[in-house]
Formats: sequence, structure tokens, C-alpha cells
Amino acid sequence: QIGVRFLGGQAASPLRESAVEEEMDWDNLGFGLVQTDYMYLMKCGEDDEFEAGQLSRFGNIELSPSAGVLNYGQGIFEGTKAYRSENGGLFLFRPQENAIRMQIGAERMCMQSPSVHQFIHAVKQTALANRRWIPPPGIGSLYIRPLLIGSGPVLGLAPAAEYTFLVYASPVGNYFKEGTAPINLYVEDVFHRAGRGGAGGVKSITNYAPVLKAMRRAKDKGFSDVLYLDANNKKDIEEVSSSNVFMLKDNVISTPPTNGTILEGITRKSIMDIAQDLGYQVQERAIPIQELLGADEVFCTGTAVGVAPVGSITYKGNRVEYKMSTELGCLKLHSTLVGIQRGEIEDSRGWLVQI
Ligand code: COI
Repeated sequence: QIGVRFLGGQAASPLRESAVEEEMDWDNLGFGLVQTDYMYLMKCGEDDEFEAGQLSRFGNIELSPSAGVLNYGQGIFEGTKAYRSENGGLFLFRPQENAIRMQIGAERMCMQSPSVHQFIHAVKQTALANRRWIPPPGIGSLYIRPLLIGSGPVLGLAPAAEYTFLVYASPVGNYFKEGTAPINLYVEDVFHRAGRGGAGGVKSITNYAPVLKAMRRAKDKGFSDVLYLDANNKKDIEEVSSSNVFMLKDNVISTPPTNGTILEGITRKSIMDIAQDLGYQVQERAIPIQELLGADEVFCTGTAVGVAPVGSITYKGNRVEYKMSTELGCLKLHSTLVGIQRGEIEDSRGWLVQI
């Protein structure tokens, strides 16, 4: 991934919007952290109520060495994006879905969570405070990362008594170093991402570090990312380290059911709706890896990833290559989603929130 330089150095002072426009290398945005100006912080103590939150300068936070998140991984996060439209409007995409998903994840991890209203307010405040970092129309977006952590001290294994909700942001472009070109997936059959009864279905921070080793092994061999199989039978596809996965065969678009081991992606859900609007039959069902290998097209979806076409899948030493239709299929789903997010295609479902 391409890190992006902020040529003016650390972004601490409230520079003019035009200064960022001039100094940012917008055309080479990747998915590396670009430090923006402000973050939003809100705490919840033993009374289980979140105090009023506030913006502060982006910077380090102080934590007890025995904070629940540091010792036992009590933390969940979200990812959402702000877009700048051609006519200068600023939009969030379905932030209430992130707020609800954070509440569901917090319940699974025994954490207090902000209300939907508090969550959306914090995301809006963060986006607006960092508006000069929202890339020009059509280039990328401001990735917004809401994070909820057990910040209270614990020693024995128990939920923390204090929670910190914080939101920060970074301008981003393409997630994969391939840019918009198709990615190459490696099917992992030793490591698994999640098991039945675990927390694979929520956006717990504990779902991410364990996949790093599989990702590193795959990247060392030149692959873009890893596709995981179900932990019971090593037969059905689950998800990719950073995204959900779909296949297209004839006029049917299929993706595995979430069933607790797969993240309920907001892009996943949106693509299922868009696919139906475009006339595809959409199915949520178990997909054996052998069936995926025979698909017409395969693609990944996620907030960070967007809609990423898959160019090849390598399973047990065999590489299968896919060709994308230039007008339909994955590319059409991608252009429709992006068109809605950028305010270029009618938002008939009311997914956009103007800020
Ligand atoms: C997202 O898509 O927002 C995520 O959180 C995935 C992460 C691996 C970047």
C-alpha cells in the first residue's frame, strides 16, 4: 500500500482548506494513515452513561497499562467514509448501520456502547472538523474510524469499568496496492479466521491480529490477500481478511450467509440491494470453494476495500483466473455503488447523510 505524504509535516495547525489541496498528493492516495487535525473522544464510567463527547487535536491517548483493551483485547471498531460530491456537498454513507453494528458488537464483548445518535453525531463532528482532508470529488474519501475500547483497568479477566469511544479520520484511496486492478487471492487451509460461537461476526479488534500471519505468508508469495474457509470442514468459503466475498455465475450473485462467523458488511448489504436493482438474483448460501473456482466473476466488498474484482484464486497449488465483464457484473456493481456514494446516481434508498 502506498503511504501518503502530507508535505506540510504534522497537521497540527488549522491550515486553510486550499493549503491541503495544494500540498496533498491526492492522486497517489493509498490506504496509509495520513494524520488529520481532530479526533472525537467520549468516555463512559461506572454509571454506564457516556459523558458529552468533544473534539480534540489528533494525538496520543493515555491508558492504564492494565486497560481492558491492552490486556484482554476488549475493543471493537467501525469503518465508514465521507465523500465530497461534484457540487461541493459532503456526505456520509449509511452511518446508522455502523452505529447499530457497534452496539451489537459491544453487547457481544460486554461493553457499553454509544447510542446511535451519539455515534452519528461523533462521526459527523469528526468529518466536519477534518473536512479539508476529504479528497476532491472522484478521487477517494475520508475514512473514518470509530473505536470503542475498554479503557478501565482490570487484572483478572473481566469487563472494564470504563469505556472510551474515539473517532479519527484519514483520507484514503484504493485499499490494495493493485489499485483498481483485479486482486489475487490465496485460499488458506491451515489458519481459520473464525469458528462457530466465536466473535467472527462482530468487528472485534481480536479478529484482525490473528490473520496477520496468514496474510504475511500470502503476501510473501505475491498474493494480495487471503480467502478463509470454514473451520469445521475446510470446504465452504467465509471471507477475506479485510472484506466479504461474492461470486457471480450466470445471472446469480451469491455470498455466504453471515451465521456468526462472517462480518455483516455494510458494503455487502448494499451490494446485495444494488445487485437486485440491476436485475440479478441474489442468494445468501453456503458456497463450497470448488464452486467458487467455477464462477464467472468473484469480487470482494468492504468499506475500506470498496468493490474489488478478483483476478485469480489459488487453492492447493492450482490457480484459477477470472475475466471481468467490462460493462456488467462486478464493475457495474462497483460503478453504481460509487455513483451513489459520490452523489452522481440517485440515492433512492436514502443511504446518504449530508453533513
Ligand atoms: C473496513 O473495511 O472498514 C475495515 O475495517 C477493514 C479493515 C481491515 C481496514
